Amino acid sequence: MKKLFSFALAFCLVLPTFANEGMWLPLLLNRNYADMQKYGLQLTPEQLYSVNNSSLKDAIVSFGGFCTGEVISSNGLILTNHHCGYGAIQSHSTVEDNILEKGFFAKSYAEEKPNPDLFVRFLVRMEDVTGKVLASLSDTMSETERQRQVSVIGKQIADEATKDTEYDANVRSFYHGNEFYLFVYETYRDVRLVGAPPESVGKFGGDTDNWMWPRHTGDFSMFRVYTSPDGKPAAYAEENIPMKPKHHLPVSLNGVQEGDFTMVWGYPGSTDRYLSSFGVKQAINLYNPTVVEIRDLKLKVMKTYMDKDPATRIAYASKYAQVANYWKYYIGQTEQLKNNNVYAKKLVIEEDFRDWVNREPARKKKYSSALTMLEEAYKANDPYVKGKVYVLEAGLLGSDIALFGYRFNRGVESYKATEAAMKKAVKEAAKEEKESVKGEYEAKLAKIKAGLEASIQEHFKDYNADLDRDMLANTLQLYYNNIPAAQHPEFFEEVEDDFDGDFYRFAAEVFEESEFSNQEDAMEALEDMKLKKVRKDWAVRMGNELIAVYRSGGTTDEAALAVLDAAEDKQEKGYRLFTAGLREMNPDKNYAPDANSTMRMTYGTVGSYYPRDAVFYAHSTTAKGIEEKADPNDFEFNAPDKLLKLIANKNFGQYANAEGELPVCFIHNTDITGGNSGSPVINGKGELIGCAFDGNWEAMSGDIFFEKDLQRTISVDVRYILFIVDKYAGAKNIINELTLVKGGDQDNRKAMDPVKAVEPSVEALNN
Ligand code: ARG
Repeated sequence: MKKLFSFALAFCLVLPTFANEGMWLPLLLNRNYADMQKYGLQLTPEQLYSVNNSSLKDAIVSFGGFCTGEVISSNGLILTNHHCGYGAIQSHSTVEDNILEKGFFAKSYAEEKPNPDLFVRFLVRMEDVTGKVLASLSDTMSETERQRQVSVIGKQIADEATKDTEYDANVRSFYHGNEFYLFVYETYRDVRLVGAPPESVGKFGGDTDNWMWPRHTGDFSMFRVYTSPDGKPAAYAEENIPMKPKHHLPVSLNGVQEGDFTMVWGYPGSTDRYLSSFGVKQAINLYNPTVVEIRDLKLKVMKTYMDKDPATRIAYASKYAQVANYWKYYIGQTEQLKNNNVYAKKLVIEEDFRDWVNREPARKKKYSSALTMLEEAYKANDPYVKGKVYVLEAGLLGSDIALFGYRFNRGVESYKATEAAMKKAVKEAAKEEKESVKGEYEAKLAKIKAGLEASIQEHFKDYNADLDRDMLANTLQLYYNNIPAAQHPEFFEEVEDDFDGDFYRFAAEVFEESEFSNQEDAMEALEDMKLKKVRKDWAVRMGNELIAVYRSGGTTDEAALAVLDAAEDKQEKGYRLFTAGLREMNPDKNYAPDANSTMRMTYGTVGSYYPRDAVFYAHSTTAKGIEEKADPNDFEFNAPDKLLKLIANKNFGQYANAEGELPVCFIHNTDITGGNSGSPVINGKGELIGCAFDGNWEAMSGDIFFEKDLQRTISVDVRYILFIVDKYAGAKNIINELTLVKGGDQDNRKAMDPVKAVEPSVEALNN
């Protein structure tokens, strides 16, 4: 402890960098405001977050619940990443008109393409409701009771907050169940595709460059939010009009320099910064390698079929990219948890915690069980981790057929239940009411049926049954071979008995017999609506049994279940106490809450770094790097000819930097994670300078331990985005819509200490 303290002190004196850990809640920005000003923020707190007046937060949206987008024009134009719009772009692509490959830019509103399943969500307001929630809990409750009560009271609070409005709301837990906040949202469901560069720009570098710097990817796409003619959120309708947003971000052409202030707003999904040493060990040894081993196989199966057939390549492009993204993520996370000595760093924190707890009887009483509970919990659930990953990754998300069967069956069940309820209600209704009661229920039935029909169409739109049969055989065979029998779904026994444990023969039979292996039979099953028959279908049986294993945490064995339940309780409680204790132990440290898909703001500065000894990474890339990487024989680096010509001619117009080069991407030490994809990078004056899309390889452990010297956000420079829109695609209509800012004073720059690149050092502990 002492030794560390002197280390830390020495470190501070030599290197006056600031650690940018923290995805902060917009409501609580006053805690960071002075610091942000010091680094170059020029806006007032009211301009950042206000409930009554329009503010910066009104330009930030949750894009489909999985990414972030920002409003960049007074006509509801939304900027996000190419990889966020990927599913939508793919859904509008065919072999004849492949906009994934060619790119697409609408030249008028009429050309913009609707996306029935896409929505964007604006934050109306947030509120600290910790007091209300905690008042309804007691110390004697078990963790399970506690969570049940939190969801009951959370729902009450959310219902109250949205009474007589069209808003949605929820209450989310922070700091492992120690604080609670209410979020009220307004959701818009008519979101149309406006533009996307060709994949060879939007995904330039492919999986090879993914999660790495230096980068040359134009990872952006554009959408537009539409409202009803009177300006309200509405489902798609032809007469809808472009939204009039409360705020849109001006776009700066002034560029970035080392040391410039940046802030990123968005919806980070999840981080695990309070993870214990036991959890780090579990991630390294059990969880991560298991995900990687299954995804390796899934990627191989998909690739075989995608290489053979252009239509399959389009149909599976988005599925493939999703699997590949977190396949590489977990490879990188494991590698960097080791390189960055995260386990040792966690041990140091836990040792300090134990010392602090043991120094006072009152603390001892409150916190001494925290780490013991965690240790016991991990010891109990370690043996089930692999099985749990398998049931999800190889089972439910392996082939598509089982999950589809499970969902279809649920739809039919709810149809049958509604039918029964209708009978009863009609019988009990007064004579003159019978017709209207019947009508009500018939409308419900029609809605369920229409939903099922839509899900059939969606499922088979991007489907190759041969691929999926092969996927089923391969993933289940691996599951069977690698996981102990006690953790198998029930039907594995039948495969043993009837197919000698050969999942290839089993898969052939499933696809031969199931009504859910082709669209025609599935439509027939919908017309029949026979619950008994549906339940006997292989797809449904597999889906239901896999779900049962998944829900119970990796096994259906009774004794094991009791052990797992107890472990889960201990784990929840252990983290709740450990997190509360850590915050009490360091009252002056502003601990940031983990990401949980709520709106956050993180700030920092543009900055280079040393990834390895003697290797220096500059803070920005230019189009020269596209020329260097371009390779017509490698689909990942096959830059479009037109782009290469524009670059060769240095035809950059107003998008060039001071040296006459075209900037492409840049890095900054803000704290982001998955879900932040598409987030705006904003300068000290509230202007858009980039669009965040990735993190860097050397800090892939960052979701578990923020690496203050190494961790960087990777963003597309907004000048590259505009260059592609304007010079490459010729979509002047979009450029004309924007509020462009050029020149003006650059005063905010001199106020800042640049983040000097710091050689990575193990000693940078404990901060
Ligand atoms: N790693 C990025 C993220 O998770 C996604 C990048 C998509 N590009 C790709 N080549 N797969 O935000």
